[in-house]
Amino acid sequence: MEAINASIGFDQRLAAQDIAGSRAHAAMLAATGILTDKDADAIGEGLLTVLSEIEGGTFQFSTALEDIHMNVEARLKELIGDPAGRVHTGRSRNDQVATDFKLWVRDQLDATEGALLALIRALLTQAEAGADWVMPGFTHLQVAQPVTWGHHMMAYVEMFARDLGRMRDARARMNECPLGAAALAGTSFPIDRDMTAQALGFDRPAANSLDAVSDRDFALEFLGAASICAMHLSRMAEELVIWSSAQFRFVTLSDRFSTGSSIMPQKKNPDAAELIRAKIGRIFGANVALTMVMKGLPLAYSKDMQEDKEQVFDAADNLMLALAAMEGMVRDMSANVAVLEAAAATGFSTATDLADWLVRVLDMPFREAHHVTGTLVGMAEAKGVDLPDLSLEDMQSVHADIRKDVFDVLGVHNSVASRVSYGGTAPAQVRAQVARWKGIVT
Ligand code: ARG
Repeated sequence: MEAINASIGFDQRLAAQDIAGSRAHAAMLAATGILTDKDADAIGEGLLTVLSEIEGGTFQFSTALEDIHMNVEARLKELIGDPAGRVHTGRSRNDQVATDFKLWVRDQLDATEGALLALIRALLTQAEAGADWVMPGFTHLQVAQPVTWGHHMMAYVEMFARDLGRMRDARARMNECPLGAAALAGTSFPIDRDMTAQALGFDRPAANSLDAVSDRDFALEFLGAASICAMHLSRMAEELVIWSSAQFRFVTLSDRFSTGSSIMPQKKNPDAAELIRAKIGRIFGANVALTMVMKGLPLAYSKDMQEDKEQVFDAADNLMLALAAMEGMVRDMSANVAVLEAAAATGFSTATDLADWLVRVLDMPFREAHHVTGTLVGMAEAKGVDLPDLSLEDMQSVHADIRKDVFDVLGVHNSVASRVSYGGTAPAQVRAQVARWKGIVT
C-alpha cells in the first residue's frame, strides 16, 4: 500500500509552494481570529525552518508520511509542538495540493516564457544578419521559390511567439486560488479566501469549491501549449538535421552542440537537434496521459489525480531543456551563404517570376503564362541549364514577344527583392518584421 500510495518521491518538488501556501493560510487564520497570533507566528517561523532544511538537503523525507504535505506538517510538529496541529484548520490536502501544484505550474509558465523569449531573440539575431541571404524555399521539400534566410528565421519567430502567447493565456486563465475550498464543500470557519489568494499572487479565489479541488485544466493547458511548442521545436530541429548534412551543407552547427562518432573520425553529428526533435514524444505523451487520467473522474477529488505531477514535471523539465538547447544552437550556428545561394538557383526556382513577368509585361492571362513558362523550363531541362542561362532566341522561339528585360527578374536576388507584399520574403519586409518583433520582445 505504501508503495502505490506514496507520492513523496516526486511531490517533494512542491516543497517551496507547499510551505508558501501554508504560511499564507496560517497568516489568514490569525487575521480572521481563527488562530491566535502566537500560534500563527510559531507556525510561520517553523515552516521557514522546514524550508531551509529541505533546501539545505538535511530534511529526512519519509514514505510512511505519504506526501509532501504530511512530511512538512510532521516536521513542523517536531519543531514547534502542538500549534503545528492547528495549521490544517479550515483546509484539506485536496485544496492544499491543488494550490501547490498551481503555484508550481504558474512558475513553470513564467520560466517557459523566459526561455521562449531567449530563443526568439536568438532567431531575431540570425534573421537580422541574413535578411538578404538567398536560399531555396521549399514545398514538399522540393525547391519552390527563392526566399531569404531572414524570412525563414522569422517564420520560427512567429511560431514561438504564438507558443509564448499560449503560455501567457494559460497563466491568465489559471490564476484563481483553490485554497479554502477545503476537502470539496468549503468550510464552516470564517476564513478569508481573498486574503490567501492575494498573498499567493492569485487574481481571485476559485469560485466553486468542488471545481477548485478537482480541476487540473491548468496542468493540461500547460501540457497542450508545451506539446505545440515541442512540435515546433521538433520541426526546426528536423530542418537543422537536414541542413547540416553533407548533402545540404546549408548550415554549420557549432562543436558545442554536436558530437563525434566513436568509430567514424570524420563524423559530426547533430545530436542536440535530434534530441530536441524527439522531446515531443514524452511531452505530448504527458499531455495524453494526464488527459486519460482525468477523463471519467467523478467530482470532486479522486486519488487518480496524484498521477498529474510526474507527467507535468517531466514535460516541463524536457521542454526547458529543449528550448535552451535550441537557443544555443541557433546562436552558434553559421549559415553557409554561398551554398544557400547556389541552392536557391537550382530547380528552376524563378519559374514563377518568369510567369509573372509574362502576365505583367505582355498582359498574358496567367494560365497561358504558366504554360509558356512550363515549355521554357522543359527546354532548359533538355539543355541541362537553368532558366537565366537560356538565350533570348531560345525564349523567343517559344513566345516571340519576350524581350531581354525578362532576364532582370530571373536572378534569385531579383526574385526575392520583388516579393514586397506584406509578410513576403523581400529583405525590406524581413527587416521591417525584425524591427517590429524587436520592439515587442526587448
Ligand atoms: N498526494 C495527494 C495528491 O497528490 C495529495 C492529496 C491527497 N488527498 C487525499 N484526499 N488523499 O493528490
